[in-house]
Amino acid sequence: MAKKKLSILLTRRWPEKVEKYLASHFEVKLNDQDLPMTSSELSAGMQKYDVLCPTVTDQLDESVFSVQGIRTKLIANFGVGYNHIALSAAKDAGIPITNTPGVLTDATAEIAMMLILMSARRAGEAERHLRAGQWSGWRPTHMLSTQVTGKTLGIIGMGRIGTRLARQAYHGFGMQIIYSNRTQTAESVEMELGAEYCSVEEVFERSDFLSLNCPANAETRHLANEQTIHLMKPGAHLINTARGDVVDELALAEALSGGVIAGAGLDVYENEPEVASSLMDLEQVVLLPHMGSGTVETREAMGFRAVQNIEAFAEHRPIPDLVTVH
Ligand code: DGY
Repeated sequence: MAKKKLSILLTRRWPEKVEKYLASHFEVKLNDQDLPMTSSELSAGMQKYDVLCPTVTDQLDESVFSVQGIRTKLIANFGVGYNHIALSAAKDAGIPITNTPGVLTDATAEIAMMLILMSARRAGEAERHLRAGQWSGWRPTHMLSTQVTGKTLGIIGMGRIGTRLARQAYHGFGMQIIYSNRTQTAESVEMELGAEYCSVEEVFERSDFLSLNCPANAETRHLANEQTIHLMKPGAHLINTARGDVVDELALAEALSGGVIAGAGLDVYENEPEVASSLMDLEQVVLLPHMGSGTVETREAMGFRAVQNIEAFAEHRPIPDLVTVH
């Protein structure tokens, strides 16, 4: 009964199963057009609905929280990353935030591994070459690339996704794992993966493949910049499945075109959905449209994880995935 009364705004279309579940348990407003909402639409939504369910495409900055008469009592984000939400403004407005951790670990680690393989083996470039009708047949020197097996994978951000990627790379491809993280990971994990804890600089210097798996915040903004990219080996590849602003894209494009590093694989960008033309013009970068968590299984699981948070809130139970705001 109490659940029926809660009104929920979904800012984008969600997987059908989850939308149906929500519609049968709550009063739900869907975004039929599935277009990103403007700041004023988001503010208006917060004035009208008890629960706001945003995604990474909604910029919930301070201004969105500055309107009078906010009704929203919970922000249940569809996604694990929440750098698009002004946490302190939400805290000042007394609105708790939840995210969807854990359920997208496998899918995102898969995409990171795929980008490693695609970048190393020139998969995007090779497919473009074939589709353009330029393939004249097998020859010993055609499209030579770099082997992944046995190389050093450096991971910056050894959380759930970083650790899963390390497992795939170590067990599946015999890679040596080095990593940097705010805190050293459990000894048992280090032992299992032969993983070596290093400084950020050392990870840049020693990696054949460097995967960024850290959260986006003031400390990690442009962590991969002109200076740090120049620490990398000439044959190295930079992989980003975290958030776009962890990489200075222009510095990366310059480093790639100048041969400072060999390749890159990106799933996220500084100004999504725009992608810098200096990157678009390069063959040696694989560009994916932010699809790390984009499997049916995962997107449904993300939706139902958000549902769990909403239900816990509605029933005054402890909320499982409360984001901690300092
Ligand atoms: C996440 O969950 O953070 C994904 O990047 C989609 O937002």
